[in-house]
Amino acid sequence: MPLEYPLNPGAMDWSRLYPDYFPAAPSGASEPPAISGEASEANEAVPAPAGEDDACAASADGLKRKLAGEIELSMTLAKKAKADGGDSGSEEKAVEFADIGCGYGGLLVALAPLYPDTLMLGMEIRTKLVNYVQKRIEALRTIQDKLDAGISSEAAAKLDQDAANRNLHQSNEADDEEEDLNEDEKRKVEEAGETKAVVDGKYKNIAVVRMNAMKYLPNFFAKGQLSKIFFLFPDPHFKKRKHKARIISSSLISEYAFATKIGGICYTITDVEDLHLWMKAHLDSHPLFERIPDDELLGKDPVVEAVFNCTEEGRKVTRNKGQKFLACYRRISDPYDN
Ligand SMILES: C[S@@+](CC[C@H](N)C(=O)[O-])C[C@H]1O[C@@H](n2cnc3c(N)ncnc32)[C@H](O)[C@@H]1O
Repeated sequence: MPLEYPLNPGAMDWSRLYPDYFPAAPSGASEPPAISGEASEANEAVPAPAGEDDACAASADGLKRKLAGEIELSMTLAKKAKADGGDSGSEEKAVEFADIGCGYGGLLVALAPLYPDTLMLGMEIRTKLVNYVQKRIEALRTIQDKLDAGISSEAAAKLDQDAANRNLHQSNEADDEEEDLNEDEKRKVEEAGETKAVVDGKYKNIAVVRMNAMKYLPNFFAKGQLSKIFFLFPDPHFKKRKHKARIISSSLISEYAFATKIGGICYTITDVEDLHLWMKAHLDSHPLFERIPDDELLGKDPVVEAVFNCTEEGRKVTRNKGQKFLACYRRISDPYDN
């Protein structure tokens, strides 16, 4: 499964991910421009750091297209800002929550019924996990539709399990590069059939894409589009020489700030104290984010409860009786932005 990313946010075809919210392009219409990344990033990649190394690693062609995308994006944003009198908001539905490195998708599944009218996107680099989350969401949606149609929860789960087994089989045949899911992962897919009642939104508001957030986040989101951005139990990259591969860095925070609206919240949590201090130091010193005291959120923000307890990595830490370090930040306005 290649990495895919649009030339700019306006070129993204969201109908594939949220068919209930975006009408499909009429058949025969030209495909929106999407670009596939390098094959070397295909599986289990430790993402290359953004910046100069990226430019060196990218093929000249890829780089040219990325630059073209950036220019097009700036022009689109400038036009849009002018049309909106400086506000980049739009009438159209747009993704508002981004879970960066969503893993098995636990946060999306937990938040989907809490914010049934909010579109949420999991962004994940590993093919195997993206496939898993796609199937998990498909299973949940199918079960919800069946429950809604009056089919009992047991029958819905059974029907859906048959479909999930067929899907798993087919996708393993279709993609030679794809590793089989192990037993634990298959069990998690089966557990996606757990829902017993119709929930608000019926999971139509969550989706996942395979992408490298350290390189292509600005291709997906316009300025100020996100109200929440999550970095939950990110890879720690313990060794000092690997720190540049960490998903939080000063230059990347600037990209995250660009995509986040004023007042939006960036959530970070980890069980690795050294990484917590690293993320905190970088976010504390960034002019576009301010720390939200934990006591303003704990017990008050339902999202924080999910951040602590609803991701697969978070659950593992709980099982192992590990400590969790939370740090959340509010996006503040840029004094130089008029
Ligand atoms: C330790 S896991 C945590 C997963 C999930 N957030 C959780 O709490 O269960 C970190 C995830 O980030 C993903 N990841 C790492 N670098 C990434 C990147 N540059 N873009 C997108 N995902 C990335 C990894 O593949 C992995 O699934």
